[in-house]
Amino acid sequence: MTELQEKIIKLKKDKNAVLLVHNYQRTEIQEIADYLGDSLGLAKEAAKTDADIIVFCGVMFMAETAKILSPKKTVLLPENDAGCPMANMVTANDVIKLKNQHPDAKVVSYVNTNADVKAVTDVCCTSSNAVEVVKNIDSDKIIFTPDQNLASWVQRFVDKEIIVWDGFCYVHDKISVEEVIQAKENMPDAMLLIHPECKKEVADLADRVGSTSDMIRFAKESDTKRFIVGTELGLIERLQRENPEKEFYSAGTVKICQNMKKITLDSVYNSLFFNKYEIVLPDRIMKSAKKSLDEMLKYQ
Ligand code: 13P
Ligand code: SF4
Repeated sequence: MTELQEKIIKLKKDKNAVLLVHNYQRTEIQEIADYLGDSLGLAKEAAKTDADIIVFCGVMFMAETAKILSPKKTVLLPENDAGCPMANMVTANDVIKLKNQHPDAKVVSYVNTNADVKAVTDVCCTSSNAVEVVKNIDSDKIIFTPDQNLASWVQRFVDKEIIVWDGFCYVHDKISVEEVIQAKENMPDAMLLIHPECKKEVADLADRVGSTSDMIRFAKESDTKRFIVGTELGLIERLQRENPEKEFYSAGTVKICQNMKKITLDSVYNSLFFNKYEIVLPDRIMKSAKKSLDEMLKYQ
């Protein structure tokens, strides 16, 4: 443990703060997490914590989600500009227009959206529960925003009409069929784990498609010793740390989410010390967005 890590742990104890950390954060931040997990796990933790302050080490939509689920808590994002580009690919107006065009459809939005999009959404989902949400929602016609790749993954499991928005994650969408095939040829004994934000043709090659936490569970329980992993570096580092007897390789070149990596130990310390950057959202948006998030939390 470094001196700075120890200082952060002491400060968060003094301030009754909790550190919620996404799997793509830097290793030194993962090491001091109170809870480390995927988007769904983090949302659930945010909803039930009894800490006074949530320091969210992730990106803006995750911190906003925490605020909406725990409106009375102070929620801090250590870097104000740690956003998710995919979340900015659809606006509330885009969704309203689609709803007007398809009045009989229900709207499912990936949790990777801004709060005002959640406010005009029927049910949010994460990559962990997207299939269950779409299966169970009370409509055979779904508007799904913003991730086209997650939508196409969901479509394999449901016999419903899905109207797909054309957003994508620049980190996962970069993983190419060619580099995955090459990695499989280099390591024919390895299993291929792929995140559903990857392109359909890449997911087609996978032994397992799942959220970051699903990959962790799967790799831990599997007898396989080598894995090729199609997701962001932070998760691959966690897999290797927690399973030292196994080997984990990136699917092709290492993929890094620059937005997730904006947060450093220094910014976490400053965040706690100066109470910055506090998430503040309009009440009206929070109330409507909470409905779609509460619905999401009903699904595993
Ligand atoms: P999960 O951790 O929920 O799989 O999400 C991945 C992601 O890209 C979050 O931005
Ligand atoms: Fe957004 Fe992709 Fe980064 Fe996740 S990995 S925060 S979806 S850009």
